[in-house]
Amino acid sequence: MTKTVAVLKGGWSPEREVSLTTGRACADALREAGYRVVELDVTRDLRALIDALRPAHAAGPDVVFNALHGRWGEDGCVQGVLEILAIPYTHSGVLASALAMDKPMSRKVFSDIGLRCPEGMVIERRVLLTGDPMPRPYVVKPIDQGSSIGVHIVNAGDNLAAVEQAEARYGERVLIERYIPGRELTVAVLGDRAIAVTELRPRVKFYDYEAKYTDGITEHLVPAPIAKPVYDEAMRWALAAHRALGCDGLTRSDFRWDESAPGTDGLFILEINTQPGMTPLSLAPEQAIWSGLSFPQLMRWMVENARCPS
Ligand SMILES: Nc1ncnc2c1ncn2[C@@H]1O[C@H](COP(=O)(O)OP(=O)(O)O)[C@@H](O)[C@H]1O
Ligand SMILES: [Mg+2]
Repeated sequence: MTKTVAVLKGGWSPEREVSLTTGRACADALREAGYRVVELDVTRDLRALIDALRPAHAAGPDVVFNALHGRWGEDGCVQGVLEILAIPYTHSGVLASALAMDKPMSRKVFSDIGLRCPEGMVIERRVLLTGDPMPRPYVVKPIDQGSSIGVHIVNAGDNLAAVEQAEARYGERVLIERYIPGRELTVAVLGDRAIAVTELRPRVKFYDYEAKYTDGITEHLVPAPIAKPVYDEAMRWALAAHRALGCDGLTRSDFRWDESAPGTDGLFILEINTQPGMTPLSLAPEQAIWSGLSFPQLMRWMVENARCPS
Protein backbone atom coordinates (compact mmCIF):
# COMPACT_ATOMS: atom_id res chain seq x y z
CA MET A 1 0.00 0.00 0.00
CA THR A 2 1.42 3.35 -1.05
CA LYS A 3 1.38 5.81 1.83
CA THR A 4 0.07 9.32 1.36
CA VAL A 5 2.29 12.01 2.86
CA ALA A 6 1.08 15.55 3.48
CA VAL A 7 3.91 18.08 3.27
CA LEU A 8 3.26 21.14 5.46
CA LYS A 9 5.10 24.14 4.05
CA GLY A 10 5.05 27.94 3.89
CA GLY A 11 3.41 29.19 7.05
CA TRP A 12 3.49 32.86 8.02
CA SER A 13 6.74 33.23 9.96
CA PRO A 14 9.61 35.37 8.60
CA GLU A 15 11.05 32.06 7.33
CA ARG A 16 8.12 31.44 4.96
CA GLU A 17 10.28 31.58 1.82
CA VAL A 18 12.83 29.14 3.27
CA SER A 19 10.01 26.77 4.14
CA LEU A 20 8.52 26.93 0.64
CA THR A 21 11.92 25.96 -0.77
CA THR A 22 12.33 23.15 1.77
CA GLY A 23 8.75 21.95 1.13
CA ARG A 24 9.15 21.84 -2.63
CA ALA A 25 12.41 19.89 -2.43
CA CYS A 26 10.98 17.43 0.10
CA ALA A 27 7.78 16.88 -1.88
CA ASP A 28 9.79 16.08 -5.03
CA ALA A 29 12.05 13.66 -3.17
CA LEU A 30 9.11 11.99 -1.44
CA ARG A 31 7.51 11.32 -4.84
CA GLU A 32 10.82 9.95 -6.04
CA ALA A 33 10.86 7.70 -2.97
CA GLY A 34 7.48 6.29 -4.06
CA TYR A 35 4.97 8.11 -1.84
CA ARG A 36 1.75 9.80 -2.84
CA VAL A 37 2.25 13.45 -1.87
CA VAL A 38 -0.12 16.28 -1.00
CA GLU A 39 1.44 19.74 -0.54
CA LEU A 40 -0.27 22.06 1.92
CA ASP A 41 0.62 25.73 2.20
CA VAL A 42 -0.23 26.38 5.83
CA THR A 43 -2.01 29.60 6.82
CA ARG A 44 -3.73 30.79 10.00
CA ASP A 45 -6.91 29.06 8.74
CA LEU A 46 -6.80 26.15 11.16
CA ARG A 47 -10.11 24.78 9.93
CA ALA A 48 -8.71 24.43 6.39
CA LEU A 49 -5.67 22.57 7.76
CA ILE A 50 -7.82 20.19 9.78
CA ASP A 51 -10.12 19.58 6.79
CA ALA A 52 -7.10 18.75 4.61
CA LEU A 53 -5.59 16.41 7.20
CA ARG A 54 -8.84 14.78 8.32
CA PRO A 55 -11.24 15.09 5.36
CA ALA A 56 -14.83 14.15 6.19
CA HIS A 57 -15.46 11.83 3.23
CA ALA A 58 -12.06 10.50 2.20
CA ALA A 59 -9.00 8.89 3.71
CA GLY A 60 -6.59 11.52 5.00
CA PRO A 61 -2.80 11.37 4.73
CA ASP A 62 -1.00 8.59 6.60
CA VAL A 63 1.92 10.78 7.66
CA VAL A 64 2.66 14.50 7.86
CA PHE A 65 6.06 15.68 6.67
CA ASN A 66 6.65 18.93 8.52
CA ALA A 67 8.63 21.30 6.27
CA LEU A 68 7.72 24.45 8.21
CA HIS A 69 10.35 26.74 9.70
CA GLY A 70 10.13 29.41 12.36
CA ARG A 71 7.33 30.22 14.78
CA TRP A 72 4.12 28.16 14.75
CA GLY A 73 5.69 25.43 12.60
CA GLU A 74 8.91 24.83 14.53
CA ASP A 75 7.99 25.82 18.08
CA GLY A 76 5.50 23.11 19.07
CA CYS A 77 2.30 24.85 17.89
CA VAL A 78 1.62 22.81 14.76
CA GLN A 79 2.99 19.74 16.53
CA GLY A 80 0.21 20.22 19.13
CA VAL A 81 -2.42 20.21 16.38
CA LEU A 82 -0.95 17.00 14.92
CA GLU A 83 -0.93 15.39 18.37
CA ILE A 84 -4.63 16.19 18.78
CA LEU A 85 -5.44 14.88 15.30
CA ALA A 86 -3.31 11.78 16.08
CA ILE A 87 -1.43 11.84 12.76
CA PRO A 88 2.17 10.56 12.72
CA TYR A 89 4.53 13.45 11.89
CA THR A 90 8.23 13.90 11.16
CA HIS A 91 10.78 15.70 13.35
CA SER A 92 10.41 16.62 17.03
CA GLY A 93 7.35 16.76 19.26
CA VAL A 94 5.74 19.62 21.19
CA LEU A 95 8.10 20.03 24.13
CA ALA A 96 11.39 19.50 22.29
CA SER A 97 10.31 21.91 19.55
CA ALA A 98 9.28 24.58 22.07
CA LEU A 99 12.52 24.24 24.05
CA ALA A 100 14.71 24.33 20.96
CA MET A 101 12.98 27.39 19.51
CA ASP A 102 13.45 29.37 22.72
CA LYS A 103 17.20 30.00 22.87
CA PRO A 104 17.35 30.97 26.58
CA MET A 105 15.46 27.78 27.49
CA SER A 106 17.67 25.53 25.38
CA ARG A 107 20.77 27.23 26.83
CA LYS A 108 19.50 26.21 30.29
CA VAL A 109 19.17 22.58 29.21
CA PHE A 110 22.62 22.64 27.53
CA SER A 111 24.28 24.07 30.66
CA ASP A 112 22.46 21.51 32.78
CA ILE A 113 24.15 18.64 30.94
CA GLY A 114 27.55 20.34 30.89
CA LEU A 115 27.64 21.71 27.33
CA ARG A 116 29.45 25.04 27.05
CA CYS A 117 27.36 28.00 25.78
CA PRO A 118 28.73 31.50 25.19
CA GLU A 119 28.45 33.62 28.32
CA GLY A 120 25.13 35.40 27.95
CA MET A 121 22.01 36.94 29.41
CA VAL A 122 18.47 37.93 28.54
CA ILE A 123 17.73 41.64 28.83
CA GLU A 124 14.87 44.00 28.11
CA ARG A 125 15.60 45.32 24.65
CA ARG A 126 15.37 48.93 25.87
CA VAL A 127 18.33 48.37 28.21
CA LEU A 128 20.46 48.59 25.05
CA LEU A 129 19.62 52.29 24.94
CA THR A 130 21.42 52.82 28.26
CA GLY A 131 24.74 51.32 27.09
CA ASP A 132 26.58 48.08 26.44
CA PRO A 133 25.39 45.14 28.57
CA MET A 134 28.83 43.51 28.19
CA PRO A 135 32.17 44.48 26.62
CA ARG A 136 32.17 44.53 22.81
CA PRO A 137 32.16 42.54 20.63
CA TYR A 138 28.94 40.75 21.58
CA VAL A 139 25.91 39.34 19.79
CA VAL A 140 22.31 40.51 20.12
CA LYS A 141 19.66 38.08 18.93
CA PRO A 142 15.94 37.50 19.17
CA ILE A 143 14.82 34.88 21.69
CA ASP A 144 12.98 32.74 19.15
CA GLN A 145 13.87 33.32 15.49
CA GLY A 146 15.97 31.27 13.05
CA SER A 147 17.93 31.73 9.80
CA SER A 148 20.07 34.44 11.49
CA ILE A 149 17.05 36.76 11.35
CA GLY A 150 17.61 39.66 13.75
CA VAL A 151 21.13 38.50 14.74
CA HIS A 152 23.48 41.47 15.21
CA ILE A 153 27.15 41.42 16.05
CA VAL A 154 27.95 44.61 17.95
CA ASN A 155 31.51 45.73 17.24
CA ALA A 156 33.41 48.80 18.40
CA GLY A 157 31.91 51.85 16.70
CA ASP A 158 28.51 50.29 15.95
CA ASN A 159 25.37 52.26 16.72
CA LEU A 160 23.49 50.55 19.56
CA ALA A 161 20.29 52.58 19.07
CA ALA A 162 20.01 51.22 15.51
CA VAL A 163 20.39 47.65 16.79
CA GLU A 164 17.72 48.26 19.43
CA GLN A 165 15.39 49.55 16.74
CA ALA A 166 16.02 46.65 14.41
CA GLU A 167 15.20 44.20 17.22
CA ALA A 168 11.88 45.90 18.03
CA ARG A 169 9.78 43.67 15.79
CA TYR A 170 10.99 40.49 17.53
CA GLY A 171 9.76 41.27 21.03
CA GLU A 172 10.58 42.99 24.29
CA ARG A 173 13.45 40.76 25.35
CA VAL A 174 16.70 39.91 23.54
CA LEU A 175 19.50 37.43 24.14
CA ILE A 176 22.99 38.90 24.55
CA GLU A 177 26.01 36.61 24.06
CA ARG A 178 29.73 37.12 24.11
CA TYR A 179 31.01 37.03 20.54
CA ILE A 180 33.00 33.83 19.96
CA PRO A 181 35.67 34.45 17.33
CA GLY A 182 36.89 31.65 15.11
CA ARG A 183 35.13 28.98 13.13
CA GLU A 184 31.57 27.98 12.41
CA LEU A 185 30.58 24.30 12.75
CA THR A 186 27.34 22.36 12.49
CA VAL A 187 26.36 18.75 13.23
CA ALA A 188 23.22 16.91 12.12
CA VAL A 189 21.76 14.09 14.22
CA LEU A 190 19.53 11.47 12.63
CA GLY A 191 17.74 9.20 15.06
CA ASP A 192 20.34 8.02 17.52
CA ARG A 193 23.53 9.09 15.81
CA ALA A 194 25.43 12.24 14.93
CA ILE A 195 26.26 12.16 11.21
CA ALA A 196 29.22 14.51 10.65
CA VAL A 197 30.71 17.93 11.38
CA THR A 198 30.53 20.52 8.61
CA GLU A 199 32.59 23.69 8.69
CA LEU A 200 30.94 26.75 7.15
CA ARG A 201 33.10 29.39 5.58
CA PRO A 202 30.98 32.41 4.64
CA ARG A 203 32.69 34.74 2.19
CA VAL A 204 30.90 37.66 3.89
CA LYS A 205 31.37 39.11 7.36
CA PHE A 206 29.19 36.58 9.18
CA TYR A 207 26.83 33.68 8.61
CA ASP A 208 23.74 35.82 8.12
CA TYR A 209 20.49 35.17 6.20
CA GLU A 210 22.12 36.07 2.88
CA ALA A 211 25.11 33.79 3.50
CA LYS A 212 22.76 30.94 4.39
CA TYR A 213 20.54 31.11 1.32
CA THR A 214 22.54 32.65 -1.54
CA ASP A 215 24.26 30.06 -3.72
CA GLY A 216 28.03 30.08 -3.55
CA ILE A 217 28.40 32.61 -0.72
CA THR A 218 29.22 30.00 1.88
CA GLU A 219 31.60 27.12 1.44
CA HIS A 220 30.58 23.85 3.19
CA LEU A 221 33.46 21.60 4.22
CA VAL A 222 32.39 18.08 5.21
CA PRO A 223 34.01 16.48 7.08
CA ALA A 224 35.26 19.65 8.79
CA PRO A 225 39.08 20.00 8.59
CA ILE A 226 39.52 20.47 12.34
CA ALA A 227 41.40 18.74 15.16
CA LYS A 228 39.97 15.28 15.93
CA PRO A 229 39.20 15.97 19.62
CA VAL A 230 37.12 19.02 18.61
CA TYR A 231 35.38 17.03 15.84
CA ASP A 232 34.52 14.23 18.26
CA GLU A 233 33.38 16.64 20.98
CA ALA A 234 31.03 18.47 18.59
CA MET A 235 29.55 15.10 17.51
CA ARG A 236 29.04 14.09 21.18
CA TRP A 237 27.50 17.45 22.12
CA ALA A 238 25.06 17.44 19.19
CA LEU A 239 23.79 14.00 20.19
CA ALA A 240 23.64 14.98 23.87
CA ALA A 241 21.69 18.17 23.03
CA HIS A 242 19.27 16.21 20.81
CA ARG A 243 18.65 13.70 23.60
CA ALA A 244 18.46 16.20 26.47
CA LEU A 245 15.71 18.18 24.76
CA GLY A 246 13.90 14.98 23.79
CA CYS A 247 14.18 15.58 20.03
CA ASP A 248 13.10 13.11 17.35
CA GLY A 249 14.11 12.36 13.77
CA LEU A 250 16.51 14.90 12.33
CA THR A 251 18.05 17.90 14.12
CA ARG A 252 21.08 20.12 13.51
CA SER A 253 23.15 21.83 16.18
CA ASP A 254 25.24 24.95 15.51
CA PHE A 255 28.61 25.63 17.12
CA ARG A 256 31.43 28.16 17.24
CA TRP A 257 35.00 27.06 17.79
CA ASP A 258 37.63 29.50 19.01
CA GLU A 259 40.76 27.66 17.90
CA SER A 260 43.03 29.91 19.95
CA ALA A 261 41.88 28.11 23.13
CA PRO A 262 43.64 24.85 24.10
CA GLY A 263 42.09 21.45 23.35
CA THR A 264 38.33 21.61 23.12
CA ASP A 265 38.05 24.62 25.47
CA GLY A 266 37.04 26.91 22.60
CA LEU A 267 34.00 24.87 21.53
CA PHE A 268 30.60 26.51 22.22
CA ILE A 269 27.12 25.33 21.28
CA LEU A 270 24.84 28.09 19.96
CA GLU A 271 21.56 26.31 19.34
CA ILE A 272 19.76 23.20 18.13
CA ASN A 273 17.42 23.34 15.11
CA THR A 274 14.50 20.91 15.17
CA GLN A 275 13.42 21.84 11.61
CA PRO A 276 16.73 22.25 9.77
CA GLY A 277 16.75 23.35 6.12
CA MET A 278 15.88 20.43 3.85
CA THR A 279 16.92 20.95 0.26
CA PRO A 280 19.56 18.55 -1.11
CA LEU A 281 22.07 21.43 -0.72
CA SER A 282 21.10 22.17 2.89
CA LEU A 283 23.53 21.22 5.62
CA ALA A 284 21.76 18.26 7.24
CA PRO A 285 20.82 16.49 3.96
CA GLU A 286 24.31 17.20 2.66
CA GLN A 287 25.75 15.31 5.64
CA ALA A 288 23.28 12.45 5.13
CA ILE A 289 24.30 12.23 1.45
CA TRP A 290 27.98 12.32 2.44
CA SER A 291 27.31 9.40 4.83
CA GLY A 292 25.77 7.35 1.98
CA LEU A 293 22.05 8.10 2.29
CA SER A 294 20.51 9.71 -0.81
CA PHE A 295 18.04 12.57 -0.36
CA PRO A 296 15.01 10.36 -1.23
CA GLN A 297 16.37 7.67 1.15
CA LEU A 298 16.60 10.31 3.90
CA MET A 299 12.98 11.29 3.18
CA ARG A 300 11.95 7.64 3.40
CA TRP A 301 13.74 7.25 6.73
CA MET A 302 11.95 10.29 8.10
CA VAL A 303 8.50 9.15 6.95
CA GLU A 304 8.98 5.60 8.24
CA ASN A 305 10.30 6.92 11.57
CA ALA A 306 7.60 9.59 11.98
CA ARG A 307 6.53 10.26 15.53
CA CYS A 308 3.23 8.58 16.40
CA PRO A 309 1.06 10.55 18.83
CA SER A 310 -0.35 8.29 21.55
N1 LIG B 1 27.86 34.06 20.40
C1 LIG B 1 28.16 34.11 19.10
N2 LIG B 1 29.45 34.30 18.69
C2 LIG B 1 29.77 34.36 17.38
N3 LIG B 1 28.89 34.27 16.38
C3 LIG B 1 27.59 34.08 16.71
C4 LIG B 1 27.16 33.98 18.06
N4 LIG B 1 25.83 33.81 18.08
C5 LIG B 1 25.43 33.79 16.78
N5 LIG B 1 26.48 33.95 15.95
C6 LIG B 1 26.44 33.97 14.47
O1 LIG B 1 25.08 34.14 14.05
C7 LIG B 1 24.60 32.96 13.38
C8 LIG B 1 23.16 32.68 13.78
O2 LIG B 1 23.07 32.48 15.16
P1 LIG B 1 22.27 31.26 15.81
O3 LIG B 1 22.40 31.36 17.29
O4 LIG B 1 22.68 29.96 15.19
O5 LIG B 1 20.75 31.62 15.46
P2 LIG B 1 19.78 31.24 14.22
O6 LIG B 1 20.55 30.37 13.27
O7 LIG B 1 18.65 30.54 14.88
O8 LIG B 1 19.36 32.56 13.65
C9 LIG B 1 25.57 31.86 13.81
O9 LIG B 1 25.58 30.81 12.86
C10 LIG B 1 26.89 32.61 13.93
O10 LIG B 1 27.48 32.83 12.66
MG1 LIG C 1 21.78 28.76 13.67
